[in-house]
Amino acid sequence: MKDNDSLSKPKPVILTCAQPTGMLTIGNYLGAVRNWADMLQRHECYFGIVDLHAITTPPQPAVLRQNVFQCVAQYVACGLDPDKCHQFAQSHVVGHTELAWVLTCLTPVGELQRMTQFKDKVAKLGFKTAETESTDGEIKFSHEGARAQASINAGLLCYPVLMAADILLYNADLVPVGEDQRQHLELCRDLAQRFNHQYSKTFVIPEPYVPKTGSRIMSLADPTRKMSKSDDHHRATLFILDEPDQIRKKIASAVTDSESEIRANSDKPGISNLLIIHSGLSGRPVPELEDHFSGKGYGELKSELTELVSETLAPIRTRYQELIADREYLKSILSRGAEAAQKRANKNLSKVYRKVGFPERTRK
Ligand code: TYM
Repeated sequence: MKDNDSLSKPKPVILTCAQPTGMLTIGNYLGAVRNWADMLQRHECYFGIVDLHAITTPPQPAVLRQNVFQCVAQYVACGLDPDKCHQFAQSHVVGHTELAWVLTCLTPVGELQRMTQFKDKVAKLGFKTAETESTDGEIKFSHEGARAQASINAGLLCYPVLMAADILLYNADLVPVGEDQRQHLELCRDLAQRFNHQYSKTFVIPEPYVPKTGSRIMSLADPTRKMSKSDDHHRATLFILDEPDQIRKKIASAVTDSESEIRANSDKPGISNLLIIHSGLSGRPVPELEDHFSGKGYGELKSELTELVSETLAPIRTRYQELIADREYLKSILSRGAEAAQKRANKNLSKVYRKVGFPERTRK
């Protein structure tokens, strides 16, 4: 890292990650990556591309490999200067799965079965959650669900423990994430406290950082659901690499309501979502936007937002095209990132191993 401040007192450590599942969405951008870029100056930053997590729903190997490079190219295109932060592939750093195992042994199975994202994934695979959940929140696999059960691998269940290990391996002070990761962060904090209590103080208890605006961007096709990379509806998700024509079509067909007033309110989820995206990109608070659009129609909001999204994403798309063509440069970013990450990981993992009681390895 080229930074003059690195000689003064240590900066707080930030760790956060995204899954390499192809293109980042405007939700990933507003809820996560854009905010990370603002933190580079005042923090020591580790940004992971979590390919180990990605195989809980395994993509084609060649696709996964390509997705990791696409992810780092998008990180850099969104402003994560690789000279000011460490960007690494999770599989390049030894310690994530090792620490995850130690933490797994401190985690009751029931706690994992109660995680919202796990229950959502189970439901997506063919279970009706209400029918499969007992009163204590434990998932009961019904006979009819036996076929779907075969697709629920233990990795999906243990996912949040690996995520906790990602954070604790770096003893991160702060973890910037979108709203959907809050529960995972809570589990991570609990596990850190449990370990500290059982073996003496080892881990910093990490604080979540969830942005005020944009922490939960909703689907354009169904604004009661979170915008996600894997939505089947072709106009539900705005990707940061979408061309202007795609942006225009998606925003034009965004679901709104039968009224005409431009106002953010829980009974107007579609309009609220468009205002929040506008606010996240323009930096103008939602009440100011409500005034600005007072007396105007939904069409005007949509066309102004289309312009704003297109303008914001154009330089990102251009930079991405340059970066993705330069595989050697992307490899060098990951290689430097992994080296720095490994250094920090080694220090923390050996401390954990010592506390747990694993014998020290002697070298001749
Ligand atoms: P992932 O890859 O789903 O998302 C990456 C980041 O984007 C945020 N995000 C959103 N923010 C606002 N609106 C949305 N619609 C939206 N969709 C996604 C996420 O909150 C996240 O911050 N489990 C994590 C990856 C992970 C991780 C970690 C994160 C693994 N280990 C350690 C932090 C620390 C995930 O699947 O993120």
